[in-house]
Amino acid sequence: MPDPLDIALEIARQAGRLLLDYAGGQLEISTKSTEIDLVTEADLASERLIVGAIRRHFPEHTILSEEGLGDLQQIAGESEHLWLVDPLDGTVNYAHGLAVWGVSLTLAEAGRPVIAASYDPVRDEMFWARRGEGAWCNGRRIHVSKAGRLSQALVATGFAYKRATLEENNLREFNAMMPRVQGVRRAGAAVLDLANLAAGRLDAYWEMFLQPWDWAAGWLLVEEAGGTVTDLRGEPWELGKQSMAASNGTLHAELLDVLRQARSET
Ligand code: IPD
Ligand code: CA
Ligand code: CA
Repeated sequence: MPDPLDIALEIARQAGRLLLDYAGGQLEISTKSTEIDLVTEADLASERLIVGAIRRHFPEHTILSEEGLGDLQQIAGESEHLWLVDPLDGTVNYAHGLAVWGVSLTLAEAGRPVIAASYDPVRDEMFWARRGEGAWCNGRRIHVSKAGRLSQALVATGFAYKRATLEENNLREFNAMMPRVQGVRRAGAAVLDLANLAAGRLDAYWEMFLQPWDWAAGWLLVEEAGGTVTDLRGEPWELGKQSMAASNGTLHAELLDVLRQARSET
């Protein structure tokens, strides 16, 4: 049986090269859940490559991939071997030519990620982790930051595609956080937000209503880099949850307090 991490790294790199080839060209673009939720021909081409390669190497494994070419359309129970695939994270950036996007593959066993590969092809940064063996970027061990208080922190978040109709659209939380931190960044690629948190470049992250494939790799990367990942109530995170709070650990209680206070205000 080939080592799934070696295969994941190779597939992520191949998909990255494909996405770089498509980038900047004339792209066919469609919309999904809302007019601002895009999918491009590059998303689909990347997914065909990734799903095809996983099937060749691991025909007995189950695949959940964002654009629907896998076996599942959503998390269903606890598959023994489940691949979660985001073939292009940051599609809106990609469609507009803003070079902030990535690709992410995660292998979960009984609901827990054991292998993660998140690749930033623009910067040629491959972030990866195997449970129990730490988090890495381009062969260098990475660790979360040591920021001790939110006033020392650079944090990241995002806003769901359904934000125009969502009561819980993250603006209360964003407004509460902004004056307390050194900066809030909304890069538009949650996969890279969590990879940068694991690398100590960000100190905390929170978001709501993303999909398991957005968060699965970052969950393992941040934990293996020494950080903390929960839901917004501070409960242990698991695939399928609708919110995530991730941090260097030191900041986690303060992060949750600010979010909790913002969410309690009417
Ligand atoms: C999106 C990005 C963005 C997040 C969106 C996600 P996609 O992923 O991760 O940062 O705020 O909610 O859907 O759609 O480009 O794969
Ligand atoms: Ca995504
Ligand atoms: Ca995507």
